[in-house]
Amino acid sequence: MTNHSKCLRWGTASCPHVVRAPTVISMVGLPARGKTYIAKKLTRYLNWIGVTTKAFNVGEYRRAATDSYKNHNFFRADNKEAQELRTRVALMAVDDACKFLSTGGEVAVIDATNTTMDRRRLLVDICTVKYQFKLFFVESICDDPNIIQGNILASILSEVKVCSPDYVGQDKNEAVKDFLQRIEHYRQTYEPMGSPAERDMSYIQIFNQGERFIVNKLAGHLQSRVVYYLMNIHVLPRTIYLTRHGESKMNQDGRIGGDSDLSERGWQYAEALGKFVEEENIQELKVWTSELKRTIQTARYISAPKEHWKALNEIDAGVCEGMTYEEIQEKYPEEFALRDQDKFHYRYPSGESYQDLVARLEPVILELERQENVMVICHQAVARCLLAYFQDKSAADLPYLKVPLHTVIKLTPVAYGCRVEFLALNIPAVNTHREKPEEQIVKRELYREFHDCSLKKWQLTYSTKPSKASCGLPGLPPR
Ligand code: ATP
Ligand code: F6P
Repeated sequence: MTNHSKCLRWGTASCPHVVRAPTVISMVGLPARGKTYIAKKLTRYLNWIGVTTKAFNVGEYRRAATDSYKNHNFFRADNKEAQELRTRVALMAVDDACKFLSTGGEVAVIDATNTTMDRRRLLVDICTVKYQFKLFFVESICDDPNIIQGNILASILSEVKVCSPDYVGQDKNEAVKDFLQRIEHYRQTYEPMGSPAERDMSYIQIFNQGERFIVNKLAGHLQSRVVYYLMNIHVLPRTIYLTRHGESKMNQDGRIGGDSDLSERGWQYAEALGKFVEEENIQELKVWTSELKRTIQTARYISAPKEHWKALNEIDAGVCEGMTYEEIQEKYPEEFALRDQDKFHYRYPSGESYQDLVARLEPVILELERQENVMVICHQAVARCLLAYFQDKSAADLPYLKVPLHTVIKLTPVAYGCRVEFLALNIPAVNTHREKPEEQIVKRELYREFHDCSLKKWQLTYSTKPSKASCGLPGLPPR
């Protein structure tokens, strides 16, 4: 990338409007220290908050470049041929990561051991000297034998490594033995971060799954957010229950927003939810609702401590609050069509967008990460945002996720992600989901609206370049 195009991407004094330099986040640590777990989770979080992020797993590059894995001897420090191949595949991953950052990516996570100072120096040379990206290391260190033992067993025996072809089909005991020897080879050359030679580098060291942290030379806002996130996550087993409020009176009328009471069937759901929670027998459950009546009423029959979060309130539909979709289409046709065109970024006049909602919900996600068993009783758009975080859904898919009324969504952490179960409590309710209209229909609709509007504007002002944004629609306040 030329200096000029770099300047356009992330700015200099003469391009003050452009924001930040791309960042490489590089994992460091022995095998079975949770590097892939952290890399995947961090990638999911950053994408969810709108930072375009991709993880590059060097193990996958190695497997693509070699015949099937034979045994730990491949990882011996004195295996020159294998060492060369390992450096080569690591460089391929770094090269792809840099390409990704040069073509619009904002953060690349290099998921590899990077256990020697030489390897980390190489990363500095490529990422910061050659490409002028920021570089941040995340090192996971474990000296608690119980955690190590648990991780190794989880790596070999549980679903964590089911997708790793290295040990597929092998006898489990043999696999554990081989894996331990593999770790030993790494340990012989392992140089943890923190030596005086690396004091200028930016890094966080995570000890024993977050028991203790060392943070060095944070460089900028993104790294602070990464550190804050990593300091809040935990690996304890727990379950998050996500549900919308019971059917409300406004749901029955097909009206959006507002603060109405539950319908009769909504109250039935509240009772059924109380029973459901009792039967699940959840340890130390906490219940979070929004500040709106319909979620607080839905929590009525649950015996557990409750907290009301304003951040969990439903998307603010601004001038469209209280209307049906049909009424919106009739009164604000262009707005209606624009929402279908890009529902995630579309902001209701005087209201919010899904993008705004994600920003509002970030503290909720961070607090959820800190907690153990929690039931969140919220609303359609809010539930979609939270679900998208746990299911790693894109901004384009998020606003169309199906979150039916009278259904509990049970989220259980497994391996690198979480299992999602939809448990319908079998109480009838209206369907409030509006499908994404066919692309063609939206385009045609927009074209027609734009054409009509342009024509009107042209007739009024004699301008040859009418702007879409300036199409004043009756009854709409300015944006
Ligand atoms: P490898 O180098 O073999 O790919 P890895 O370091 O990527 O191993 P993972 O496969 O990500 O390790 O995870 C192994 C286990 O580590 C998982 O069971 C995970 O729960 C656990 N784990 C997650 N976070 C941490 C952490 N901060 N410290 C130690 N272990 C962790
Ligand atoms: O219809 C119920 C509701 O929660 C409304 O209050 C809210 O405006 C809407 O769902 C969000 O869904 P969508 O973004 O699909 O319009």
